Amino acid sequence: MSKRTSYVLLAFALGCSRCDEPDEQAPQAGQAEQAEQAEQAEPPPEPIRVLEPVEVNMDKVFLGRRLFHDPILSGDGTISCATCHSLDHGGAEPRRTSIGIRGQMGPINAPTVLNAHYNFRQFWDGRAADLQEQAAGPVENPIEMGTTFPEAIERIQADEWYAQRFASVYGGDEPITKEHITDAIAEYERYLITPSPFDRFLGGDEDAISAQARRGYETFKSTGCVGCHLGINVGGQSYQKMGLVEDYFALRGGELTEADNGRYNVTHDEADRHFFKVPTLRNVAETAPYFHDGSQEQLADAVRIMARVQLGRTLDDAQIADIVAFLGTLTGELPEHARLPEQDVPPPRTADEGSPGATSE
Ligand code: HEC
Ligand code: HEC
Repeated sequence: MSKRTSYVLLAFALGCSRCDEPDEQAPQAGQAEQAEQAEQAEPPPEPIRVLEPVEVNMDKVFLGRRLFHDPILSGDGTISCATCHSLDHGGAEPRRTSIGIRGQMGPINAPTVLNAHYNFRQFWDGRAADLQEQAAGPVENPIEMGTTFPEAIERIQADEWYAQRFASVYGGDEPITKEHITDAIAEYERYLITPSPFDRFLGGDEDAISAQARRGYETFKSTGCVGCHLGINVGGQSYQKMGLVEDYFALRGGELTEADNGRYNVTHDEADRHFFKVPTLRNVAETAPYFHDGSQEQLADAVRIMARVQLGRTLDDAQIADIVAFLGTLTGELPEHARLPEQDVPPPRTADEGSPGATSE
């Protein structure tokens, strides 16, 4: 077995240790024979799984939706989560790296919040366990939203709409807490699940995607992309080295940044240098630029580089175009109430202005 194949198999094993669906677990002893017969009758299961909706509390979703779009959570009243995670841009942002409060340039590209619930950890380096833990990060990050929770809570408590909503969702006698705020935002994000034409295809509707996209999916599988981009989120379930078979950073050129260290920044284990959480490829056609450094504007270029540095493969233009067509079928639809109606988007706030008051849902 070549080194490359064993890496890909390793990635599969990593992936499947995360699969909690009973039908994907190894058959129990005694069922082995049955399984063997079934295997002869049926094609092997697809490495990518149909997206499932998540059960949510809609009162929390509406509260979290507003917080997500509200610059009240930032120190100077100008930046909201949606500034860097726009629903018009696949839940990410069109910049290489983020620009936060007072125009400060962040070190890394913003990943999408869509379907982020299905990632096994949050952030490129996995430093947050889940969406609620993640949501606390940007608020107190000095170059993102640059405030503190006590300050943000004071502003939120003074806003009539929020005061009423928090009281009705979390209990009237309780003061608003950081946990309430991050819980509501996380609930909203859990709601941002985007079923796509490819899910309909997986569900048996052959015509849900074009012949070119079907060909692209076959190439995506046969080239080995599914070694890392697999499961319900087409990624999001393991850390992998950026540049597994060829040095990506040498190819990219330029200075190495701290962000380029990836998972190493969390573990300080040399073996983790340049490892990143494999990003989801759902909605990827909408989320340019690509990679943690935002270095690639074109999806075709990101695909070409991936094939080369992760798999040691050179794809021709037709194969790349097919894969790009397949990736386009992963662009999904937002659920009905995902968008905050235009007239309800809270305007920028300034410290002296206080709360501009609230509108209806
Ligand atoms: C200034 C831009 C900016 C703002 C404001 C911002 N984010 Fe982010 N977000 C980022 C960047 C950049 C990352 C990646 C950081 C990293 O991985 O180190 C990120 C990562 C995330 C992730 C992890 C996704 C994944 O796949 O790992 C989630 C979820 C998220 N942000 C939600 C939020 C929420 C909720 C808010 C508001 C409370 C918010 N963000 C505010 C830029 C921003
Ligand atoms: C060994 C694991 C691995 C394999 C194999 C792999 N990828 Fe990736 N992929 C990653 C990692 C890790 C990243 C994030 C790297 C970074 O940003 O530095 C990534 C990022 C991407 C991105 C950019 C996503 C974004 O939001 O920025 C695309 C597109 C992509 N991969 C497509 C592919 C395709 C197509 C193939 C097959 C030709 C493939 N990948 C093979 C691990 C892998």
